[in-house]
Amino acid sequence: MELKRYNFDEKIDRHGTNSVKWEGMTKMFGREGLFPMWVADMDFKVPQEVINAIKARADHGIFGYTFRSENFYNSIIGWMKRRHNLDIKREWIVDGAGVVSAITIAVLAYTNPGDEIIVQPPVYYPFFRVVKNNGRIIVNNPLRFENGRYLMDFEDLKRKISRRTKMMILCNPHNPVGRVWTHDELETLLKICNDNDLILASDEIHSDFIYAPNIHTSILSLDSNRNTLTFLAPNKTFNLAGIPSSVVVIPEKRLRDEFQTMVENLDIETSNIFSMVATQAAYTYGDKWFDALLEYLTENLNFLESFIEEHIPKVNLIKPEGTYLAWLDFRKIGLSDEDISRLIIDKANLALDDGNLFGIGGSGFQRMNIAMPRELLLAGLKKLNDIFGDEKNA
Ligand SMILES: Cc1ncc(COP(=O)(O)O)c(C=O)c1O
Repeated sequence: MELKRYNFDEKIDRHGTNSVKWEGMTKMFGREGLFPMWVADMDFKVPQEVINAIKARADHGIFGYTFRSENFYNSIIGWMKRRHNLDIKREWIVDGAGVVSAITIAVLAYTNPGDEIIVQPPVYYPFFRVVKNNGRIIVNNPLRFENGRYLMDFEDLKRKISRRTKMMILCNPHNPVGRVWTHDELETLLKICNDNDLILASDEIHSDFIYAPNIHTSILSLDSNRNTLTFLAPNKTFNLAGIPSSVVVIPEKRLRDEFQTMVENLDIETSNIFSMVATQAAYTYGDKWFDALLEYLTENLNFLESFIEEHIPKVNLIKPEGTYLAWLDFRKIGLSDEDISRLIIDKANLALDDGNLFGIGGSGFQRMNIAMPRELLLAGLKKLNDIFGDEKNA
């Protein structure tokens, strides 16, 4: 019923806005004009309350130095309590700009060049960049893919930890495989980290996109969260990636102070007026909009699943438990990654994210963004069907 109040079917032309997804494809795909189902933003308008708040602030007309207000932090605390039953203490929160830059700050604050940092591929690929570009060493703890489901490999993790290993970057829920990690899985993981003095950095940017009956478990909700950092942001939830803000929740004072010092040393600016206004309005007034969005995305996901089953059975959907990203297995087609990519880009005219970007375990897979009006989703799927479908006229 809420769905009726919000029109997620509305198609909005994003050309002329310098949208990376629609107009910034050359770097990744060699040319423009592909049908974009790649980078993780949504083709939906933000809640009207967010637009109104930005307009009202813009009308004031003076945009001098500004700080994050207590209402800004309270809006985040309130959202996390309402949506995830999470009690976050105000003093645990430190400021980030975007999530990736906040993870970079953590890498710089807690590790030294030459130290090892663990990631769980296939995983959101900027994790590799923030580690490697800063002279730290990636240690891969690949996910296991068993009976169509991804699992963490705890035995491999224990084996991989050495004296040089200082930190682990967790994707919770996991982009691109769509796992919503369970309480038990996260407790086991955190115990291994604590036993080995590893800092656990939990990127929870996708944590609002959870499909029933799955439930998001924040690392913060676990008892022994002393050595953890949790990255939170409205950038995905409310489609605010172009005016990003983030916070990092760090229960332990020593870690918090070290993070804060690094933010100051790097002089990172976190107080963009419009990102603050948008964040606060979204977290304060966005519940109903988001409930309706999640309903719409659930239907998109079901639509995708039946379309693929019916028309493109050679491609296997790893149905996500969370996130609006679908992980598609092309291995049954029996072509090389290069050939699959060429067919997708040159013949289907589609922009998907090549699985190889996500590291070990990505070969043979492609990631598809389904956060768009259903008519667009269908248009994209038809393009895929034209090349890989059983009957090519769905
Ligand atoms: C797991 C994950 N973390 C972080 C980001 C990006 O966050 P930001 O734009 O705030 O740096 C993304 C975007 O796709 C993501 O999937």
